[in-house]
Amino acid sequence: MRKKRVAILISGRGSNMAALVKAARAPDFPAEIVLVLSNRPEAAGLDFARSESIPTALVPSKAYGKDRAAFDAAMQAELERSGAEIVCLAGFMRLLTPEFCEGWAGRMINIHPALLPSFKGLDTHARALEEGVKLHGCTTHFVTPGMDEGPIILQAAVPVLDDDTEASLGARVLAEEHRIYPETLRLLASGRLAIEGRRVKITG
Ligand code: GRF
Repeated sequence: MRKKRVAILISGRGSNMAALVKAARAPDFPAEIVLVLSNRPEAAGLDFARSESIPTALVPSKAYGKDRAAFDAAMQAELERSGAEIVCLAGFMRLLTPEFCEGWAGRMINIHPALLPSFKGLDTHARALEEGVKLHGCTTHFVTPGMDEGPIILQAAVPVLDDDTEASLGARVLAEEHRIYPETLRLLASGRLAIEGRRVKITG
């Protein structure tokens, strides 16, 4: 089996990136992490990637201002240089142009800290507490031009407890993120995901 080459895009802490890197250490994991790319120089996840001897790249979004097309072109150049075949967004806090998303259609995935289609966007744990939902969780999905809108791959639910704070609920969800994101990448890299309209079926 030839391992699929994967680039991970981060903006911050990078704990999901670390979960993917750790999973990819297993000899039978169908993907290898060939690049960790950040749009922020201060992203803590870069240090972890360097400590694992994974190539890193920085495309500082600040330097591009509102010129999203130029920013995406710079990212595309880094991705091509790395030979990436799959892109994983892992806490990447920058919207991508439709052209960029379409170029990676079916090969770019994201993790979102809520049970989509509920709570798209930011501050999902605070909003879940505010709404009083009893179940919250996380979702992996293919990336399409609309934010947090692409076909859903895996979801994991956690209970919302009466004494939960944003932090305690977030931690419970994060533990599930670290479980379903590597599993999602494993399925994608082994060619076991079939997109049918908005539904993703697991084959094989
Ligand atoms: C995670 O909650 C992820 O679901 C969301 O942003 C957060 C990033 O955390 N997209 P980390 O950088 O992976 O630790």
